[in-house]
Amino acid sequence: MFARYKCCLVEILLGTRLVSVVVFHRLRYRVATNKLNIKSNSKSESHKFNHSQLEFVSAQFSSSKGTMPPRIAQIRLVSSHPQVYAPCDDSFALVDALLADRTKLLNHHPSICMEIGSGSGYVITSLALILGSESKNAHYFATDMNPHATKVTRETLEAHGVHAELLTTNIASGLEKRLSGMVDLIVINPPYVPTPEDEVGSSGLSSAWAGGENGRSVIDKILPVADNLLSEKGWLYMLFLAENDPLQICLQMRDKGYGAKIIVQRSTEEETLHVIKFWRDPDIQIEGNEAGSGGKTAPQRGLDFLRSQISRLSFRETRQ
Ligand SMILES: C[S@@+](CC[C@H](N)C(=O)[O-])C[C@H]1O[C@@H](n2cnc3c(N)ncnc32)[C@H](O)[C@@H]1O
Repeated sequence: MFARYKCCLVEILLGTRLVSVVVFHRLRYRVATNKLNIKSNSKSESHKFNHSQLEFVSAQFSSSKGTMPPRIAQIRLVSSHPQVYAPCDDSFALVDALLADRTKLLNHHPSICMEIGSGSGYVITSLALILGSESKNAHYFATDMNPHATKVTRETLEAHGVHAELLTTNIASGLEKRLSGMVDLIVINPPYVPTPEDEVGSSGLSSAWAGGENGRSVIDKILPVADNLLSEKGWLYMLFLAENDPLQICLQMRDKGYGAKIIVQRSTEEETLHVIKFWRDPDIQIEGNEAGSGGKTAPQRGLDFLRSQISRLSFRETRQ
């Protein structure tokens, strides 16, 4: 996403934006996905972008239960729009985290699932396919503030035979009252690139990545909304950039009673991404005072582990 942002700045300066955005996006998929193919280890998924068929394939995913059925991992890019964020490294990292946790997600039996900022629909469609027929009662929602994204998401979902209620809105406005405390699973790849504050929330493609100071402007608005929406057993999978200070976010969430775990951590040349899972942890005593004079509590040990994981910036994925 960083490289895309930088490229757009150059394009604006050169006045060649429209054509080169499309060309650059296409090239970027190839470069990024090749990078991932090379760097992924044998157990992890690798996403290949087949330029001629416009198809994203998670080709090598295998789990302890065997190879994933191909339909789960194949998302065809059936629809696009110049102002809609097309799947990139960050989208792949988020879906990889969901694939890595697939068995847990199936055992979790989420009834209501939601994506905030669905863009092309790649993530929500993947999620619906990952949960598939084993989660027949799951109901899906997806929001995006960009009306073109809502349209592209709808077309992506339809092409893969899955359904979600879609809403063009700011974060989850219009759903917050209706779904308060009811959502079992939320997935988010937010705008996270540090940018000038006035770029945040603008119309058009830049709102997909413009995150304001430290890339945190939109993230800091989304987290309280997610907290309100999540059910008692709710899980949140959210993607962060190292510059967003994910450790500080984990500490902030801990103060609200959430445990946190890194599911995927990945570095490309431009950025280091973390997909972190949050859940309400009854062992966390929100008032503090949980540290006895002696040993550390389980949540504290978890935070120590997170701290050590986040500080290591080399390419690696954790499967805990
Ligand atoms: C980084 S893109 C991710 C798109 C898609 N989920 C993916 O992973 O490929 C962020 C998306 O969030 C949307 N977005 C940005 N700010 C938003 C807001 N305040 N409310 C809802 N959606 C927002 C953008 O329009 C964009 O589609």
